[in-house]
Amino acid sequence: MEGNLRPVLETDVERIAEIEESSFPDPWDPEMFRILARQSGRALSTTGSLIEMMVLTHRQEIVGYAVWEQKGGEGHLINLAVAGEHRSQGFGRLILEEVLVQMRKRGRTHATLEVRESNSIARHLYERAGFAASGRVVGFYGAEDAIIYSSNL
Ligand SMILES: CC(C)(COP(=O)(O)OP(=O)(O)OC[C@H]1O[C@@H](n2cnc3c(N)ncnc32)[C@H](O)[C@@H]1OP(=O)(O)O)[C@@H](O)C(=O)NCCC(=O)NCCS
Repeated sequence: MEGNLRPVLETDVERIAEIEESSFPDPWDPEMFRILARQSGRALSTTGSLIEMMVLTHRQEIVGYAVWEQKGGEGHLINLAVAGEHRSQGFGRLILEEVLVQMRKRGRTHATLEVRESNSIARHLYERAGFAASGRVVGFYGAEDAIIYSSNL
């Protein structure tokens, strides 16, 4: 398994939206990805946090992506997905590890994320990467709670 991580481009948005739609019950509006792509995968939010996005390509095809937000010492993973047909081949892990490298490069000291309680594959991925469950947000996803994970960087 090998892949290349690079900042998102506008021409990637259609494929990303496809992966997003098939990965989440509450997918992001493609416009969110487009806004990031127009700024080469790096944008400032209205609250002053830095939002970054990278895509993973494998044999010229986009197989997954991640979006993360950073402010002060914290890096917060807000989106991570791998295309259905490319899952369970180590791509999720590859993307997550690169996100953590990028956070460290920017001097962040800890990383956080939320995950659906029932998402055992993602939870396993995060635990293997050194994250530990540190809280719960009741009803974060409507009918389902979020488990908060944290890790030092
Ligand atoms: C979660 C997700 C990103 C993982 O990506 P992936 O490329 O399939 O994951 P990897 O192949 O890198 O595997 C990561 C770990 O999960 C395990 N895993 C992967 N698929 C699995 C499966 N179907 N059943 C059990 N374990 C599985 C792997 O064995 C690996 O653990 P290991 O290092 O102990 O061997 C992917 O499943 C996905 O996009 N899911 C839908 C969107 C989503 O839930 N995103 C996360 C939101 S918080």
